[in-house]
Amino acid sequence: MRPRPRESTVYAGSLISRLPDQAQPAALWLRSVTGWGSRRRTSNQPSDPEPFNAQHERAAIIRALIERARVTCAIETGTFHGVTTEYLATIVNSVVSVEVDPFYYSVAAERLSEATNVTLHLGDSRTVIHALSIQPSFTDQVTLFYLDAHWGDDLPLADELTMIGASWSRAIVVIDDFEVPGDSGYGFDNYGPGVRLDRTILPPLAKWRGAYPSIASEQETGSRRGWVVLTSPELSHVLEQPGLAAPWALSPPETCA
Ligand SMILES: C[S@@+](CC[C@H](N)C(=O)[O-])C[C@H]1O[C@@H](n2cnc3c(N)ncnc32)[C@H](O)[C@@H]1O
Repeated sequence: MRPRPRESTVYAGSLISRLPDQAQPAALWLRSVTGWGSRRRTSNQPSDPEPFNAQHERAAIIRALIERARVTCAIETGTFHGVTTEYLATIVNSVVSVEVDPFYYSVAAERLSEATNVTLHLGDSRTVIHALSIQPSFTDQVTLFYLDAHWGDDLPLADELTMIGASWSRAIVVIDDFEVPGDSGYGFDNYGPGVRLDRTILPPLAKWRGAYPSIASEQETGSRRGWVVLTSPELSHVLEQPGLAAPWALSPPETCA
């Protein structure tokens, strides 16, 4: 997704900016608790009406990965309007998606009310992934994770990946809003040191591999957000495919003592 404003921003022209200076901190707090006055709640129309930020090249690569690995289940963090959720439900057997914001949860629930193979959760992505990670009916499946629950200073990404790495042996993980080194045309989330979506944020999962898109950002459509795909050891072979650059290891090679 495109860069999101921090919750502490006061937009010129917003209701909050018209309040006296002394009243603005309280109004910002009220907005963060209730959503009042926040731009992102004013519409239930998705900003990107197509899945994966309307990035067609990315969508084609993910579809190829799903087919090649025979993915049966998709788990998405950050449902938002449910656009990507809805698409995933057409290409895998079952989809689980988690959204922390009650407003977006309700928008997605309405959109997906007739999708019988979709389960939506209202809550924090870490809590839901943990709950799924102790159920063999989930961890035994070949699973595509679409990690997109980053929207501000709280980045659940490292915790999400650590749980996935510990419990799923056949997983493909796609992370949205991730830096693509060498191609600044792909946007990525950068909220400062430690909250920047780049390779340094990834836990050193043993024998996992990662790959960036090899397609230049100018050839991509839609929001042109950067991304990365990671695979568990059993599925590392699927990274050898058109559209992906040379894979690399998430952990340093093991050395003999
Ligand atoms: C970029 S949007 C997701 C877009 C969606 N995946 C799509 O492709 O259309 C990010 C969403 O993550 C949600 N979110 C942020 N932090 C979260 C968390 N810790 N757990 C679950 N959802 C979270 C936000 O409320 C927001 O709706």
